[in-house]
Amino acid sequence: MKHRWSGWALVAGTLAFSATASAAPPTAEMLSNACAGCHGTNGGSAGPSMPSLASQSKTAIVDAMKKFKSGERPSTIMGRLAKGYSDADFEAMGNFFSKQKFHATSQVVDKTKAAKGAELQEANCSRCHLDDGKDGKDDTPVMASQWLPYLQMQMELYQSGKRKMPEKMAEKVKPLSREDLEALLHFYASVK
Ligand code: HEC
Ligand code: HEC
Repeated sequence: MKHRWSGWALVAGTLAFSATASAAPPTAEMLSNACAGCHGTNGGSAGPSMPSLASQSKTAIVDAMKKFKSGERPSTIMGRLAKGYSDADFEAMGNFFSKQKFHATSQVVDKTKAAKGAELQEANCSRCHLDDGKDGKDDTPVMASQWLPYLQMQMELYQSGKRKMPEKMAEKVKPLSREDLEALLHFYASVK
């Protein structure tokens, strides 16, 4: 709980700040203040409900921020936060985080599920989630080493229709069972 409240305090600070000084794009230092509490100073996630941004493509980050801001992508926190920034700010943020080194996490995953997930990834998802999900090209986010609870939450948002899947991804996801999808997420979480 402590962590969560310190996160909210950060957000409040960020909104107040960007309201008074929105003209210049954020510097790396400002970014690390506004985003670090949750995404780490170098884009490495600070906890299981938050994604790492390090090494994500600039396009994926900018796209996500725009969708959070417009409300197209549902969120617990980012929608409110994104409203404090301009498109130019998103570009600067995307630029900064895309240049940070891939962040590997150490998580406990179910090994049997992860092994099954590895095969499913190859057959169904590797066209876009390249290199075991380590490489996020264009608008595709990095999947490797993201926290399992974060991935599960996003998959649930897709499955419930609250978050819209890209059409070509939906074609691959829809035929899979809940167990298959769960296995895939265990696999991604395990990749370093
Ligand atoms: C208080 C915690 C918090 C802060 C501060 C925060 N984020 Fe987030 N971020 C989250 C959470 C949680 C999610 C998952 C979506 C949601 O539920 O809001 C997320 C998701 C994202 C995503 C989507 C990544 C993906 O893989 O799909 C991007 C991009 C992002 N944040 C960028 C930023 C940037 C840039 C900042 C600094 C301006 C920032 N965030 C500050 C908590 C935070
Ligand atoms: C045609 C390309 C494509 C294919 C195939 C694909 N994806 Fe995706 N995936 C994307 C894109 C693009 C996004 C980000 C789109 C968005 O904003 O929702 C994404 C996002 C995700 C996310 C959310 C990650 C985050 O950080 O927000 C998950 C989970 C995911 N994909 C799982 C899968 C799985 C599992 C498969 C295979 C069954 C798969 N995808 C196949 C393109 C693809």
